[in-house]
Amino acid sequence: MKEKVREIKLDETVRPQKLADYIGQNKVKKSLAVYIEAAKTRKDPLPHVLIHGGPGLGKTTLANIIAKEMNVPMRITSGPAIERTGDLASILTNLKSHEVLFIDEIHRLNRNIEEVLYPAMEDWALDIVVGKGPSAKTLRLELPPFTLVGATTKIGALSSPLRDRFGVLYHLDFYENADIENILTRSSRILNIPIHQDACAEIALRSRRTPRIANRLLARIRDFAQVKGKGTIDIGEVNRAFLVLEIDSYGLDGTDKKILQIIAQKFAGGPVGLSTIAAASHEEKETIEDVIEPYLIQTGLLERTPKGRRLTPFAYKYLGIAEQTLV
Ligand SMILES: Nc1ncnc2c1ncn2[C@@H]1O[C@H](COP(=O)(O)OP(=O)(O)OP(=O)(O)O)[C@@H](O)[C@H]1O
Ligand SMILES: [Mg+2]
Repeated sequence: MKEKVREIKLDETVRPQKLADYIGQNKVKKSLAVYIEAAKTRKDPLPHVLIHGGPGLGKTTLANIIAKEMNVPMRITSGPAIERTGDLASILTNLKSHEVLFIDEIHRLNRNIEEVLYPAMEDWALDIVVGKGPSAKTLRLELPPFTLVGATTKIGALSSPLRDRFGVLYHLDFYENADIENILTRSSRILNIPIHQDACAEIALRSRRTPRIANRLLARIRDFAQVKGKGTIDIGEVNRAFLVLEIDSYGLDGTDKKILQIIAQKFAGGPVGLSTIAAASHEEKETIEDVIEPYLIQTGLLERTPKGRRLTPFAYKYLGIAEQTLV
């Protein structure tokens, strides 16, 4: 728990506040800059934006930046936090003109709550049903114009009527190594951690191409360096820390290796279904699907087939075992 609080604090300390400081994701930045400029010139709210991407890739950061660049406040909530339609109605009626409403984990909204969002997104209106049975009437309340920014790790779990009501859809992909290096350089400046360039490059290589992981590793390695009484992080310090942290040169840890090994040894390399892998590895299916698997696929160790997950020849090379064939 303490570790979690520390990580949230770290996220906030190093989180960029301006679009110009948001590193990488150039296509997203370029188009967003145009939409922001156009909306500001017309004095309109920004169109609704849906941000999709894995954990730690910068969704919350981007939502923050959108509000800052538009010079408007941001109201933050999340799919699971909105339990009743009344909760959402009260949030919507309390919005200020042009405000950003950020709904994190928007795929977890209930369908009946989603329906309140449809007229709100389309017409800035809230439909309230008064009375019951045949005498029930719908009253339409006007809402201030606002921008909905939704974030999701699971675009497939979003209903299409909701998805279609967003004017802009961004997908955040894994970062280029050079971008992760830049993020580390920036964070080390903010956190006042002097670091050698080659040490920075090594951390970037093992950061799973994910900004949050890069920052977290930087903070951990700083701890190691401090204990040793060193003021600067060099490559030796980084390599020693990674040995203790059990993170290899691909950024894989013990859990990743365990999953690959299980697929190789228990399921002859696959294809094998996600639930079966989860049961055999005692890991949660969600964790495998959202956190572990995307990076294994990205690295070319695992592939997704219609029949399930399958190891690639590269995975056998990585594990140092001979490829198995089904008989
Ligand atoms: N493009 C970027 N440039 C610089 N730093 C970034 C960038 N994207 C993310 N970060 C850093 O990574 C941290 C994690 O990003 P963020 O909280 O936005 O991820 P997220 O996609 O919202 O993750 P989750 O799915 O867990 O909510 C931020 O605190 C920020 O410091
Ligand atoms: Mg977030």
